[in-house]
Amino acid sequence: EPVPGLLLNENGGPWVAQRARTRRNRKSQGMRDMCAENIVTPANFIYPLFIHTKDYNEAIGSMPGCERHSVDSALKEVAEAYKLGIRSVIIFPKIPDELKTNAADECYNPNGLVPQVIMRIKDKFPEVAVWTDVALDPYSDQGHDGMVSDDSRGDGGFARILNDETIEQLCRQALCQARAGADVVAPSDMMDGRVGALRDALDAHGHTEVSIVSYTAKYASAYYGPFRDALDSAPRESSRAPRNKKTYQMNPANSKEALIEAHLDVAEGADMLMVKPGMPYLDIVRLLRDNTSLPISVYHVSGEYAMMKAAAERGWIDEKEVVLEAMLCFKRAGANAILTYYAKQAAQWLNE
Ligand code: PBG
Repeated sequence: EPVPGLLLNENGGPWVAQRARTRRNRKSQGMRDMCAENIVTPANFIYPLFIHTKDYNEAIGSMPGCERHSVDSALKEVAEAYKLGIRSVIIFPKIPDELKTNAADECYNPNGLVPQVIMRIKDKFPEVAVWTDVALDPYSDQGHDGMVSDDSRGDGGFARILNDETIEQLCRQALCQARAGADVVAPSDMMDGRVGALRDALDAHGHTEVSIVSYTAKYASAYYGPFRDALDSAPRESSRAPRNKKTYQMNPANSKEALIEAHLDVAEGADMLMVKPGMPYLDIVRLLRDNTSLPISVYHVSGEYAMMKAAAERGWIDEKEVVLEAMLCFKRAGANAILTYYAKQAAQWLNE
């Protein structure tokens, strides 16, 4: 019995009369690929590597599949990533406790772990862009990205995170990384004015070709937990400062503030902006995309990785499909580059 209101075509079948049928552009893999507005390639990825001073690797409990690498193993990782088409890596050091101080002076030791690894990578893979994180936390005995004051005039009667004193150390750190051969320095500390200060310091020492990727919109996020496990870099209970980073990282409630940060970073000479975390902050990626012309990177952070791994291990999601979808969504939101612990695995899947 025909459904009332539906027309019949000339074969007697139902006909919902309409000219536009959007499914025609989805009818085959070839059509879908031809019409795709966005595409992810291994060259979009920046591969993060955790390194330590030991000569063996250590698993990271809350980040299955990630390890703290020995220097030799880190080099192997770079080689494998390169074969898969990845052209950028970023290194994060786990520093032994006995080298940590409030001023974090180890961050500019020219014989330290990071400069050593940069030199080894650049020596073997000159065409790989080596990124470094600029912030004090791996070197801080307080577990903060900046130096902590010895008074208690800060938030909630705690000590303060000193802005300009920290920037002086960050300049020393970035110079040390640039001298070792870093291609990109990425300040993740969220001190005010650090991008301009770093640009001036680098330029004054002849490092005009070293890029600055600013962690522009870096939120005070609970998604960084597994990363802080990996580096043992969480704000310490023993610290005089608060056990959170809310006086320098951004409030997750805010998006207009991300625009202020973006305009400052552009004015201070940043080469690329970054949004962090990734998936819960796609609106911020889009906001910056629509308001600046610089390239944008997005950080798919440790907690996002851990959530996907945990669900995948239980068989609750299809890991490959979910990961590649997330990467595509970063591109659709407006990101050019994606920092993800899945970089190698995703590149493998894309190359299949
Ligand atoms: C350090 C830094 C952090 C991350 C990148 N650089 C931790 C933090 O700010 O506490 C987090 C990355 C991740 O969670 O994957 N300034």
